[in-house]
Amino acid sequence: MYRYLPIRKVYARQVLDSRGNPTVEVEVTVGEGVIGVNGYTGRASVPSGASTGKYEAVELRDGEKGNYVGLSVEKAVNNVNTRLAEAILGENALNQCYIDALILEADGTDNKSSIGANACLGVSMAVARAAALALRIPLFQYLGGCHTRRMPVPMMNILNGGVHADNAVDLQEFMIMPVGASSYQEGLRMCAEIYQFLKISLREKGMSTGVGDEGGFAPDLANTHEVLDFILDGIRRADYDPGKEVSIAIDAASSELYDAGKDAYYFPGESKMRGEEILRSREEMIAYYEDLVEHYPIVSIEDPLCEDDWEGWKKLTETLGEKVQLVGDDLFVTNEKKLACGIKLGVANAILVKMNQIGTLTETLTTVDMAHKAGYRTIISHRSGETEDPFIADLAVACGAGQIKTGAPCRSERNAKYNQLLRIEDYLGNLTVYQNPFGRTD
Ligand code: PGA
Ligand code: ZN
Repeated sequence: MYRYLPIRKVYARQVLDSRGNPTVEVEVTVGEGVIGVNGYTGRASVPSGASTGKYEAVELRDGEKGNYVGLSVEKAVNNVNTRLAEAILGENALNQCYIDALILEADGTDNKSSIGANACLGVSMAVARAAALALRIPLFQYLGGCHTRRMPVPMMNILNGGVHADNAVDLQEFMIMPVGASSYQEGLRMCAEIYQFLKISLREKGMSTGVGDEGGFAPDLANTHEVLDFILDGIRRADYDPGKEVSIAIDAASSELYDAGKDAYYFPGESKMRGEEILRSREEMIAYYEDLVEHYPIVSIEDPLCEDDWEGWKKLTETLGEKVQLVGDDLFVTNEKKLACGIKLGVANAILVKMNQIGTLTETLTTVDMAHKAGYRTIISHRSGETEDPFIADLAVACGAGQIKTGAPCRSERNAKYNQLLRIEDYLGNLTVYQNPFGRTD
């Protein structure tokens, strides 16, 4: 078929994300002949974080002089329409690695601060989508190849805290994982049922059923134990067996809690609820997680310690690494070099993968490959600010990641991903594989 699929047009505009902030959307048209006759246009939009890692590639925003209270992305949009368009027009869309190399070259910095990672990523994703469209194969198969069939287990964030909600819960995310389901579709249903029971329980307690940025509930529960008891109760009310059918995962997002001056982790919500300052040292944090893992069916902890605390991470990996998945998000920022350090030092045993932390599809896939080769698990992830673009659903299947983190079964920017996975599973029929990423639990 096509050996050469020229990029004919690159166009970006500013659209709104799920928090009502502007973000970059890109359209890339490829194909021979006159556009509109033989052309295919791939569209992609870029997400945005709130608990952003210090070492992420730079998201370019207009700042003080910009619109949308300084959050506009007109410069990034303009960079796509000028510098990136110039760099890739006429080039072969089927050569994703080369296109991404041209994007890196046009930017010329280590962290995409010149063109903006948001501009770079929008183009990189839209090129892939246009290529898949032109070849008339689903995006997940274009990205992953003909043997692609592993469905991810959802890591569903049903209770939000930290900077994603205005409640007293200090750890950012409490997630359920339907590890005992026999298919993705069944797993999704189990999670959605539990979510509804949690809502009923909150109503019964007279607590808020308002949701946070990722669609999870955001009630004022006093501390982590209370949250976990509440979730266990929801799992049981939905008639599932905690630990066997449904396990629990946490994202502590602890870089947000770390106080460099005090070299300790400050828990503002727990402090407020108890009326005294709650600070935990690195050692106390490790003991805190050991205790949680002992008492609850927790299978995964993300960012348990802050992004610069490699020593603490190493200790924690030695202590808990055999028992639970320890996920580096802010620690690794989807960056090949950071992950290589982690592998060398024996730090963490899994990586959260967010395309916009690094800025191109090729760099993302390189990091995923490195992780898999080293025996690290991968989790493809959304950001707290999302769009209706379901790209990461296809990416999760393409990578055979086995896990996806994309919020609660609530808010359509989250369900866009879950629903796309339903379509993929439907399309593949009974050829799909759905596995407990942690092996048997019974
Ligand atoms: P963010 O949160 O998108 O706000 O960074 C997600 C996460 O920490 O995993
Ligand atoms: Zn995280």
